[in-house]
Amino acid sequence: MEKQSFYSALIAFIFFTEYGLTQNTEPRPAHDKVFERIEIVNERYLKNVKPIFVKSCFDCHSNQTRYPWYHSLPLIKQLLDEDTATGKKHLEMSDDFPFEGHGSTEEDLKAIDGSIVKGSMPPFKYLIMHPSSRLTIEEEKTIREWVRESLKTLKEQ
Ligand code: HEC
Repeated sequence: MEKQSFYSALIAFIFFTEYGLTQNTEPRPAHDKVFERIEIVNERYLKNVKPIFVKSCFDCHSNQTRYPWYHSLPLIKQLLDEDTATGKKHLEMSDDFPFEGHGSTEEDLKAIDGSIVKGSMPPFKYLIMHPSSRLTIEEEKTIREWVRESLKTLKEQ
């Protein structure tokens, strides 16, 4: 193609796509609704649940790992890094809700609820070194309530 006709084609293309966008009066597509619901769930997360997760989960499920002094000991370092890497692979909470998990958003919410019911998170060997990260009954209730509300919100028509 000649240079000149290439540029006219490009300008025509830009003009029509821009024009098409501003003329778009279609009703909002369904994914906008999904986005709105996720926003609602995230607002509740930021307000009620994130502070709990920062205290008890972020060391292994986010980029904001607070390493203890003994992290610098070679073998310990390897052990702790493994936990962080594995935890993040399963559920990465750094960028707020929706988390990056290995399942759907709903599955991740259910997995969080499951870990609370089983009392499996934070893992026992971590709690020995970080007793204050144990979830209180109140915190467990707050998380479970948020999961329940979120699943409902995400399902609404
Ligand atoms: C010491 C690091 C550590 C801490 C702290 C921690 N986790 Fe985990 N978490 C892991 C590891 C490692 C896995 C993957 C292996 C497993 O399931 O035990 C995991 C897996 C999970 C899973 C399973 C995800 C899936 O479906 O595969 C959930 C849900 C979860 N964690 C939630 C939490 C929550 C909620 C907290 C805070 C209350 C928390 N974790 C604190 C290390 C941690």
